Amino acid sequence: MCGIVGYLGPSKAAPVLLSELRCLEYRGYDSAGVAVIESGELVVLKAAGKLSNLETLLTDKKPTATVGIGHTRWATHGIPNDENAHPHTDCTGTIAVVHNGIIENYQALCAELTAAGHTLVSQTDTEVVSHLIEDEYKKCVLECNGDALLVAIERAVKRLEGAYALGIVSQKHPERIYAVNHNYSLSVGLGDGESFLASDSVAVRQFTNKLIRLEQSEIAEVTVNGARLFDFNGTFIDRQAIEVDMNPYIISKDGYRHFLLKEIHEQPISMRQTMGKYINHPDKPIDLRPTENGGGHFGNYGVNLTETQLKSIERINIVACGTANYAGMAGKYILEEICGIPVDVEIASEVRGRKPLLNDKTLCIAVSQSGETADTLAAFTEAQAAGAMSMGITNRADSHLSRITDNLMVTECGIEVSVAATKSFTAQVACFYVLALYIAETRKLLPPAEIFRLKQQLLLVPALQERILSQEKIIQQQSIKYAEAHDMLFMGRGINYPVALEGALKLKEISYIHASGYAAGELKHGPIAVLDAKVPVVTIVVPGKVYEKTLSNAQEAKARNAQMIAVATEGDDRAKGIFDTIFTIPQVDELFSPLVTVLPLQLMSYFIADYLGKDVDQPRNLAKSVTVE
Ligand code: F6R
Repeated sequence: MCGIVGYLGPSKAAPVLLSELRCLEYRGYDSAGVAVIESGELVVLKAAGKLSNLETLLTDKKPTATVGIGHTRWATHGIPNDENAHPHTDCTGTIAVVHNGIIENYQALCAELTAAGHTLVSQTDTEVVSHLIEDEYKKCVLECNGDALLVAIERAVKRLEGAYALGIVSQKHPERIYAVNHNYSLSVGLGDGESFLASDSVAVRQFTNKLIRLEQSEIAEVTVNGARLFDFNGTFIDRQAIEVDMNPYIISKDGYRHFLLKEIHEQPISMRQTMGKYINHPDKPIDLRPTENGGGHFGNYGVNLTETQLKSIERINIVACGTANYAGMAGKYILEEICGIPVDVEIASEVRGRKPLLNDKTLCIAVSQSGETADTLAAFTEAQAAGAMSMGITNRADSHLSRITDNLMVTECGIEVSVAATKSFTAQVACFYVLALYIAETRKLLPPAEIFRLKQQLLLVPALQERILSQEKIIQQQSIKYAEAHDMLFMGRGINYPVALEGALKLKEISYIHASGYAAGELKHGPIAVLDAKVPVVTIVVPGKVYEKTLSNAQEAKARNAQMIAVATEGDDRAKGIFDTIFTIPQVDELFSPLVTVLPLQLMSYFIADYLGKDVDQPRNLAKSVTVE
């Protein structure tokens, strides 16, 4: 979704801002803009559409300014056009603001400002901010002994309701940029005589590894010499920059045609890194506690739940959206199977407005690749407010989620650029195995030999994934036969039901083919009505407790002439007798099978979407992190 960047230093700001904005493209956007201070004058350039449109404007105007802010906007209030693109200015045209998040009381503020004589030109909730600062600045210049602009910003932001991050420049102070964070994410990067700003630290990491993260309700006054931090009352906050590991955040396709394909292939490594961090050896107890250096992360990291707390958990409540929600559904099977603790999985956006039935014996787990998904964060904070213990599983230790819980498992996937989640899914599911085994160890729920065996099995999974990835060409040929389908059904039972949902989501997201996932047993309760010879049905069937029943459900589909596709185990002769196409997977324990069965489905979606010429890395209408409810 929206992205904020900034630059201040000896170089021309426009190319730096563009380069920062390029790093944020993956988040999804529909317009972009910059504000620079050019020879003492504020200049705003913005354009709807791709960054290339903004680049054309910048190439035309060739600003030489060395200070500026930039933005990529994903429309929420007002259509994606030039006018609604950020930055937004005040009536004097001297203050420019870029904004992520929502100003919830913008209508009331807009009415107030309009009545006071301000002219607001966009349909956005953002524009009120520049006008509020304008008003406060006028007053502060007369009243304040201190720094008028800083005080004006403090006063203006106190009037805002909602969660937001802001970047602000004023032509009166071309030597500074202001950054404001309130329940959002914003980081300042410190270089040598230059400073950077970004709502996603990925944009800054290409220039420097020294970062300062703004915490809640903080303002940073950024100059070429560094940043001074204040709370909303102007109290100085002493915080030093942290040195971060830049490598996992390098954005590169590494020779792959698309980020999506690269990320599918990265799964064995991200799984090994994620599990390896917590499981040193199957013989050794799992350790989820924080490491001394924060695991090289920029942000919180590690699980601080005490043994007493872990032993007191009576129920687990998982909140997440989309793919992360399906990882959570797999997590339910895993935790219930290994720990025998009842688990509920909630679509995070469905939690709002409901009676919270949680207490201090409940562990609420938020699962979010980005750690910024507004629905997930809202559900999670409601659970915390109801007294539940809380824990996050995220790929971004520098995210908002990491700020609001002391218990964080970090998936070591590196940056996931493609909008469609792949490697984060398997790494999240891997975290659930690790967590379940950790709880089982702490609560002595299983004999040590069984825990040892399960750990061994888990650690073998990346090698199985590699075997599937090595069959990519066969999967490609098998997949494109189905590229002309208009509808596709995915079904699985038990622990592979969430994989069916994920398979369907992947296909529709990137190929735009309508697809639905079902619990295989549900087919006969309705969905079977849509089946005919034109509808491919993908069944996930692995040996185990639900094998026979899943095959029976597949027979029901076959009897309706559906085109039959399976993800099935090598050498499964019974599957051969039912399915037209089989994506074969190596033998795997049913309990660990989601980590394997999902791979052919990811590849199938990728090859179909690519065959159809779709924008696989940035599918239409989608954003990588959905920061509005
Ligand atoms: C699907 C996808 C989305 C996200 C969902 C949650 O490919 O990417 O469904 O899984 O928006 O995002 P996070 O995990 O960042 O909370």
